[in-house]
Amino acid sequence: MSVQHDPRLVASDEAGNHCADHSLHFREAKKKKMGTKNSRLQGFYQLNPFERLQMVKSFDGLNDEDLRTLHGGNGSLTIERADKMIENVIGTYNLPMGIATNFQVNGHDKLVPMVVEEPSIVAGASYAARLVRAGGGFHTSSTPPLMIGQVQLVNVAAPHSARMDILARKAEILALANAQSRSLVGLGGGAQDVEVNIFPTSPMGPMLVAHLVVDCRDAMGANAINSMCEAVAPLLEEITGGRAYLRILSNLTDRRLARARAVVPVSALERDGLSGEEVAEGIMWAYAFAAVDPYRATTHNKGIMNGIDPVIVATGNDWRAVEAGAHAYASRSGQYTSLSVWERDAEGNLVGTLEMPLSVGIVGGATKVHPAAQTALKLLNVQSANELAEICVCAGLASNLAAMRALACEGIQQGHMGLHARQIAMAVGAHGVMVDEVARRMVEERNIKPARAEELLAEIRH
Ligand code: MEV
Repeated sequence: MSVQHDPRLVASDEAGNHCADHSLHFREAKKKKMGTKNSRLQGFYQLNPFERLQMVKSFDGLNDEDLRTLHGGNGSLTIERADKMIENVIGTYNLPMGIATNFQVNGHDKLVPMVVEEPSIVAGASYAARLVRAGGGFHTSSTPPLMIGQVQLVNVAAPHSARMDILARKAEILALANAQSRSLVGLGGGAQDVEVNIFPTSPMGPMLVAHLVVDCRDAMGANAINSMCEAVAPLLEEITGGRAYLRILSNLTDRRLARARAVVPVSALERDGLSGEEVAEGIMWAYAFAAVDPYRATTHNKGIMNGIDPVIVATGNDWRAVEAGAHAYASRSGQYTSLSVWERDAEGNLVGTLEMPLSVGIVGGATKVHPAAQTALKLLNVQSANELAEICVCAGLASNLAAMRALACEGIQQGHMGLHARQIAMAVGAHGVMVDEVARRMVEERNIKPARAEELLAEIRH
């Protein structure tokens, strides 16, 4: 398809409505200024990667330089830059970046960049975002970006009395912490509170743990928090008479929560001979399973992280931190359970909510160093770390919905089959059109195995 002649690119207004009465000149000028801003890109999946990129460019915000970054291989991460990011660098490592379409978040259309190796995730999130769009899109909120830094104190003679001493000198402790990060304080963030927990027993004996509660603004915050913890530890030793060992942030960021809500009209769920009501019932049973059974909840939550991690990776954030926080939060009641909640509202709509710790940044770390991460952030057009976190939970809720719908209906394998077959075809050496041909025949035969792929490839090559 020629992108230039795609009517969706030249004749859509911000709300995605056609505007046939506008002159081409006016429309082009408006497009240049505002982009199409409609994430409902029908047929996007049928384009080739170059055409898709042009369409993404027309959405808004990206220039030719950004396109070169994304298409230049390795996300244009040079070996020199990579060598400064981690130790012992010998190369860089590519992963596919896809775009999840159809997302509408608080009334704004968003194209969501996802970096991930697993087939069906981008398609599933896009499909679910379309269902949610039918119910008015995602609605989000988040808490202030508060994180906790911990200082472990041992050999404290009278822990309860020491706790009082620490709290009495809170202002002094906070001032010392904030002296480490003037820029954060200048932006309205910084250490805001001190808390103390006492553990009367542990495998090594009693300990006292001081918390610094830090507002990280648009940073993920790990470096600032760790510096603050290290800076206040000697003062805490002096106050308590104890010895400080660990001084590090906590990845259980339960004060830095992001929330998303999605309403899906039951009529939108109708598919493949199943009524919307039947699909909704299946989804509710899938949710109920995850709500009560930790074995299922783990997989259910993995399905949520399928949507979140790819956005975290695309934007250069720390996905291990987010994973750690997510699963700890899922166990906060004492039993590991589903991170999402699904209900039926008074009109019978399916309503999903997801509230979870989400510590991401839009400044600092790899977000600034990796050119593709910069481009991903530019495409998302987020003004704050909170806004990015909110988009992440939308992607998580979308992936969750897509997985539950598929599992409750046709099963997960059917959707996976085509891409899985193509991966097997490539693994046995198929190139170009042969990949599709070998994959098509294996799917037709319902025999998707490397041995069969080799046979078919040999047959085609003859
Ligand atoms: C596969 O990557 C994710 C699922 O297992 C999630 C789920 O079971 O809900 C399909």
